[in-house]
Amino acid sequence: MNSVLKEILDTKKVSDGTEILRLHSSMDEHEGDLISKVIQRVRPTTSLEVGFAYGVSTLFICDALARIDRPARHIVLDPFQFSEWKGIGLRNIKSAGYDKFVELREERSEIALPQLLNENTILDVAVIDGWHTFDHALVDFFYINKMLRIGGVVVLDDSTMPSVGRLVDHVLTYGCYRIFGIPSGHGLFVRRLAYYGRLKKTKWPSAIALEKIASDNRRFDWYRPF
Ligand SMILES: C[S@@+](CC[C@H](N)C(=O)[O-])C[C@H]1O[C@@H](n2cnc3c(N)ncnc32)[C@H](O)[C@@H]1O
Repeated sequence: MNSVLKEILDTKKVSDGTEILRLHSSMDEHEGDLISKVIQRVRPTTSLEVGFAYGVSTLFICDALARIDRPARHIVLDPFQFSEWKGIGLRNIKSAGYDKFVELREERSEIALPQLLNENTILDVAVIDGWHTFDHALVDFFYINKMLRIGGVVVLDDSTMPSVGRLVDHVLTYGCYRIFGIPSGHGLFVRRLAYYGRLKKTKWPSAIALEKIASDNRRFDWYRPF
């Protein structure tokens, strides 16, 4: 594992070069392991993720890309890298030596994804970890589905959230996706109801990877209850 990623995971801290901050909002080792398995299997030349923050998921993705050892383009969408995350994600990627892979677009995903579709982008792998309302995650998925090739895999993070979990239910009715994998480990099927609240069991784990197994040929009036 890259030493920058290892240090962040060990210390649970990040830095902007002057201040040391507590790590939060990032994927954990179990989710990172799932991402590595996806990358190893699909061997993407073009991948994309929504939601950069301190760059932890991006480090997992680039770490796996580096092990494949061939040119790859990883597109990252997040409008708030400097306004909210002090440029720390980008700093981490540069210190890890992974800037050769990463193309950061500081745009909202709802703006950048249709632009990428218009540029005829074809995706092998995508990770959705941006704004987690049902409608927003669905918009992210809608465009990613249009760009994802058959055999490609999309990872939805935070699928214990009802908003994302219902999106998983919905996508699995399309008929062209199947479950590729989930993280391994304990305590993946639970959600804390409030900051100090009790734990509730959930239908889906903390992240889920869905493989596109056929083209999406649903009719214009297709609908399945979910
Ligand atoms: C949970 S954090 C991502 C964590 C990151 N994937 C990791 O594992 O380190 C969610 C991110 O989504 C970003 N975000 C919020 N709204 C967004 C939007 N409309 N488009 C793209 N990113 C957005 C936030 O700035 C934040 O960085």
